[in-house]
Amino acid sequence: MLTDVDVLNLKNVSFSWTPGKRVLDQCNFSISHPGFWMLVGSNGSGKSTLFRLISGVIKPQEGSLFCSYKPALMFQNPDHQLLLPSCGSDLMLSAPQGLSASDLRKNIDYALSQVGLAGMFTRPIHTLSGGQKQRLALAGALVSNSNLFLLDEPTALLDPNSQKAILELVQDLTRRRNNPITALWITHRLEELRYSDGGAVMKSGQVGKWNSWQELTNKLN
Ligand SMILES: Nc1ncnc2c1ncn2[C@@H]1O[C@H](COP(=O)(O)OP(=O)(O)OP(=O)(O)O)[C@@H](O)[C@H]1O
Ligand SMILES: [Mg+2]
Repeated sequence: MLTDVDVLNLKNVSFSWTPGKRVLDQCNFSISHPGFWMLVGSNGSGKSTLFRLISGVIKPQEGSLFCSYKPALMFQNPDHQLLLPSCGSDLMLSAPQGLSASDLRKNIDYALSQVGLAGMFTRPIHTLSGGQKQRLALAGALVSNSNLFLLDEPTALLDPNSQKAILELVQDLTRRRNNPITALWITHRLEELRYSDGGAVMKSGQVGKWNSWQELTNKLN
């Protein structure tokens, strides 16, 4: 049953890219509490397809999908979503229409500070490290006022230090006092599960039950 607090609810959702081959098969899935949630599952199990459905890029062919939050999709490789030459100009693309120039600048500077890139408005994007580019992608989602971050293996290309820093940053954003975000994070790296408020496994076109990270880690090892 839906409640006012349901962030996201999928009911019997099916989707095929190729006729007769269901990637999602009568999938039921919900997030009823804001927080940091992780999804694991083998290659081709439909995780990225699920994210495309939640973000509205594709529509369920059967079943229903309800999302009360504003989603933003983020990928493994930030180069696929950073478009303009400097941090500030790129973030302007994400900003809502109609802001005054000074509010726009304030929003962008605030988002940069939230992700640890304070003062980098004019910094050329090609001079950023991979971890800094992922931070900039997160800042873009903040500037757009999204509150459901769909993170599709965001640390896959990062070294262990940057991986940890992005995990901690997303965890902080889900716990901040003002406008905490909800994050749904896909990973193949089981050591990341401990940063989450819960995890679930995607398999055979369906998502399993939410587990604590300890339960899930025990089940998968
Ligand atoms: N745009 C597309 N067109 C056709 N088929 C697609 C498309 N995107 C995904 N698929 C197919 O859907 C199935 C699920 O793919 P998906 O990318 O959702 O899996 P995944 O769980 O994200 O895998 P991985 O862990 O490798 O990223 C695969 O068989 C894939 O080939
Ligand atoms: Mg994928």
